[in-house]
Amino acid sequence: MLQSAPPPSTMTHTPPQPLDEGAIDRWMLDPAVTFLNHGSYGARPKAVHAARLKWLQRIEAEPLLELDRIRPQLVAAAKVAAGACVNARPENFGFVTNASAGVCAVLRSMPMEPGDELLTTTHVYPGVRETMKYLAAQRGGVMKEAHVPLPVHGPDDFIAAIDNAITDRTRLVLIDHIASPTAIVFPVQAIVDLCHRRGVEILVDGAHSPGMLPLDIESTGATYYVSNFHKWICAPMGAGMLWVTPDKRESIRPAVISNFNADGFVPAFEWQGTRDITPWLTVPDAIAWGASIGWDRIMQHNHELAVWVQDMLCSRWDVEPNSARDGSMIGSMASITLPAEVQQRYNDRQAYQAMIHREYNIEAPIVDWPQGWLVRPSCQIYNRPEQYIALAEAIEDTIA
Ligand SMILES: Cc1ncc(COP(=O)(O)O)c(C=O)c1O
Repeated sequence: MLQSAPPPSTMTHTPPQPLDEGAIDRWMLDPAVTFLNHGSYGARPKAVHAARLKWLQRIEAEPLLELDRIRPQLVAAAKVAAGACVNARPENFGFVTNASAGVCAVLRSMPMEPGDELLTTTHVYPGVRETMKYLAAQRGGVMKEAHVPLPVHGPDDFIAAIDNAITDRTRLVLIDHIASPTAIVFPVQAIVDLCHRRGVEILVDGAHSPGMLPLDIESTGATYYVSNFHKWICAPMGAGMLWVTPDKRESIRPAVISNFNADGFVPAFEWQGTRDITPWLTVPDAIAWGASIGWDRIMQHNHELAVWVQDMLCSRWDVEPNSARDGSMIGSMASITLPAEVQQRYNDRQAYQAMIHREYNIEAPIVDWPQGWLVRPSCQIYNRPEQYIALAEAIEDTIA
């Protein structure tokens, strides 16, 4: 039975103090919408958007000068700031448009024989699942998924599932750093160690990690690490990166091959055909915007809010959290199992999400999961606790 308010006795967390810098009028977002889905495409502070427009104006005024003659210096300078933010040496990574392009670059570049296997988990992002299936099948290989059911009890759930699923045909393990459907933070280090022990390459899909978790890519020991700056660093959409361990670097090329392919890893990534490079050039502006508030403060605020949201919604709907109750396996998002009546009454997930937006002015992702639908709210400094109460009330209203 749903309750009209969280029973205080079962709640152990409190929301953080709001940060003044999070005021919604500092963001490009429509303030009339309760926006609880930062995780899908990020959102831009007005200051970052203005910085991007300056780059655009500069390039549109002198396209040849900017794109042909000084592009290498511009991109190299942006890489210094981007690399410092995630601890990646500029010679080991290239910008890409998005995490999807980074995954494509790795899977298309690596050798694969008929019968080889690409392994991921059931928490994989749906678009990455499709990429793995398609590119494995093109070369006579197969894509497999290690089943990691919810709720996750701890890192061993991942280790055991992946260890059991690796075979002598496994060419690559792809894991999420923070899973899209379930918001769970994977035990990356332990899985990297496992892959080393089993002699398998590992690609970490860190689409959500920069700006959500402190990051040290050079130290993970992964073979490949893909990431986005347009989600939690709040850079313009179209700013991703692919890091490659030095001994594999020269075998990897971007998904789009162009003029400087023969010149090596860095030039090949720096020019992927004519495109808008302003999202990459704005990454340092976005990093500086967050630094002016304090990335630690932002990450801590968002995490504390997510832990409270998980606690509040689980208590309210009397459901088990999908990972540790203390929030130690989530970052700035949480996934919560919806009351079963929601799926029973509305069996089209996308239509239900659109209805919550249309009828209640709330943008929150509803996720299809084998055991039942989840809601996966994000927490960013422009969000306030009462917005999640409004989400709970809206969902309860749809099944009243
Ligand atoms: C874990 C994960 N991987 C990959 C992606 C794809 O990101 P993009 O659309 O920027 O390529 C997403 C998007 O939400 C994601 O959550």
